[in-house]
Amino acid sequence: MGLVDLDKQFVWHPFTQMKGALITPIVKGEGVYLIDEKGNKFIDAVSSWWVKIHGHSHPYIAEKLMQQYNELDHVIFAGITHPKAVELAVRLVDKLPSNIDKVFYSDNGSTANEIALKLALQYWHNQGVTKTTLVAFEGAYHGDTFGGMSVSARSMFSEPFNHHLFKTEFIPTPTNSNIESVEEKLRAILIKNDVAAFIYEPLVQGVRGMAMHNKLHLSRLLALAKEFGVLCIADEVMTGFGRTGTLFASDQVEVKPDIVTLSKALTAGVMPLAVTACSNAIYEAFYSDDKEKAFLHGHSFTGNALACAVACANLDLLESEEVSKNLSDLICWQTEFRELISSHKGIKAARQQGAILALELNSSQQSGYTNELGAKAYAYFLDRGIIMRPLGNVLIIMPPYCITKEELQCIYTNVDSFLEELFP
Ligand SMILES: Cc1ncc(COP(=O)(O)O)c(C=O)c1O
Repeated sequence: MGLVDLDKQFVWHPFTQMKGALITPIVKGEGVYLIDEKGNKFIDAVSSWWVKIHGHSHPYIAEKLMQQYNELDHVIFAGITHPKAVELAVRLVDKLPSNIDKVFYSDNGSTANEIALKLALQYWHNQGVTKTTLVAFEGAYHGDTFGGMSVSARSMFSEPFNHHLFKTEFIPTPTNSNIESVEEKLRAILIKNDVAAFIYEPLVQGVRGMAMHNKLHLSRLLALAKEFGVLCIADEVMTGFGRTGTLFASDQVEVKPDIVTLSKALTAGVMPLAVTACSNAIYEAFYSDDKEKAFLHGHSFTGNALACAVACANLDLLESEEVSKNLSDLICWQTEFRELISSHKGIKAARQQGAILALELNSSQQSGYTNELGAKAYAYFLDRGIIMRPLGNVLIIMPPYCITKEELQCIYTNVDSFLEELFP
């Protein structure tokens, strides 16, 4: 039996209606390429769910991973520490906004946000203050766990679970025309003095279709939330590690978060690892002689040594001149292509933030995840050696930073031909 047949018999894939699912067998990854059983090569145009910033099987990361394996692969992280967990925390705190002082480890983006929400709620609880409301943006996506779903848009993804999700107040994302009314709406929520935290994807809402908002508008909303003592949680799971043009999207926003969550490119997409980092002010609300005030949360793989070593190797690469040149070249090429393509009659909107390029296509159906153009585009690009994974009618070009101009041009040429075919 072939790999795909065995897969169909025994494996259940994420975000996939298994009936009729198109499954591609990949056996090797090399730089920006994924290679199937027959030796066919595919450009990984979405960095395998936005994680592989240095491409596949990077030799420097492999070396550091093997070194760590030979020293220590994993150890219980309650009551024990190890050098790479400490090194990573020191280096992240140095790079994160200056008010961020402490790092809590977990394994994936949803859990990092779950922990952020729990920290925020317990922060108030430990001080004897009852604050139970969370605020989030409309169209938000913060993960698939119950907390993550609660602060994410209600949709077909959450539908079976809606009764079990906790109450969240959703505010529109700010634009030039609505910023005043969004501020009003936020103020009306804050005035009740019951808001524990405001969670937001800074500058770019990924799963919404790379919907983008302005840093000045975001700053205004954060400043308002802070006036009411609300904890601000920047979900940098997708935006972290250079994607938006700065190391973190929050670097571009004047008002800084109290909590930052990281995952995806934290290990350059090599190992599952996540971070929930917070200010000393939050940490101190848990620091007590009273054991019940501790943050009683953890996972078997918290602080995994292999993952921490890989994350440190990722930081080494990000600090190198080569990677920062690659990233700035990629941003320039994306800008040139956006400028060329944005006037095409098939394009409703061409959005860019740093190295993220999103092309929203015109469609008679509603924009969004279920738009049938998504499946059509996926199959079209796959046939032409490109793994794209559009979000409905939004094509997303988010390749590893090491992509060459020629490889990127191959994606652009196929976007052109797809548009010509759809909008002759
Ligand atoms: C902004 C944001 N937060 C959280 C998550 C969830 O991360 P994970 O898939 O690692 O659970 C995602 C995933 O796409 C995301 O884009």
